[in-house]
Amino acid sequence: PAVAYGLDAPFAVEFHDSVGSTNDRARELATGGAANVAVIADEQTASRGRLDREWRSPSGGVWLSLVLRPDVPPAHAPAFTLAAAVAVTRACREVGVDARIKWPNDVLVPHTNDRGDEGDDGDDASDGAGDTVDRGGRKLCGILTEMEGEADRVSWLVVGIGLNANVDAGDLPAGADATSLAAELGHDVDRRILVQRVLEEFHELGRDLDGVIPAWREHADTLGRRVRVDTPGGIVEGDAVDVEFPGALVLDTGNGEVRVTAGDCEHLRP
Ligand code: BTN
Repeated sequence: PAVAYGLDAPFAVEFHDSVGSTNDRARELATGGAANVAVIADEQTASRGRLDREWRSPSGGVWLSLVLRPDVPPAHAPAFTLAAAVAVTRACREVGVDARIKWPNDVLVPHTNDRGDEGDDGDDASDGAGDTVDRGGRKLCGILTEMEGEADRVSWLVVGIGLNANVDAGDLPAGADATSLAAELGHDVDRRILVQRVLEEFHELGRDLDGVIPAWREHADTLGRRVRVDTPGGIVEGDAVDVEFPGALVLDTGNGEVRVTAGDCEHLRP
């Protein structure tokens, strides 16, 4: 049976032409008790990526942070991040871009030939590993989730989504294998419709987290590939065979199965 996770109310939208970071603004709202708010900005001046990495947020993107107070234990929080990746992927596919998910939550446009052995695998040879390593494709979107929780229950969750929508190719970070919807399509997209679709899809998935993993599998680029994951406990390499609730990647290492719950994932060529 479907379980309500507290996402029954629609999102209230708070829009900024320019803000430091939508995640920081969303955290302010969250600590003040807000729920179901979508903070959106046209431009961010102090945006943050995962692992303290830089994230560029010029005008034209979709910089969006969701304030949630779901009635779930902290251990289930990763499922919301996966849900956001699915929601973004579906919205991108609707506008005609071949978006897929690299575990756990990067949305990218895979290199066309990277499952075959003909043509350019898209490797830029700057990764120090010849032509055997593929970062997975050109990155369209990254997600940064932040949380405060007690032992048994999340008190708030901020899911920050950075989608390069109408970002000009020249404004994308150089040498980082990044792309935008506009760069892929050759024209701008309607960001209002895009945001609407992301919120609708996310809302639907967030109402019943049981549906998140099957939806994620459907759009995964990582499954079936040989991968190398840089985890807090060290590097793990294997064949990515599945994803399990709330978001662990199951690797067949040839020496048994290993589940990884956090880390940076590289797609390796078979
Ligand atoms: C990543 O490193 O891949 C995650 C990038 C997340 C960027 C988004 S943009 C909206 C929100 N506000 C931030 O400061 N970061 C996130």
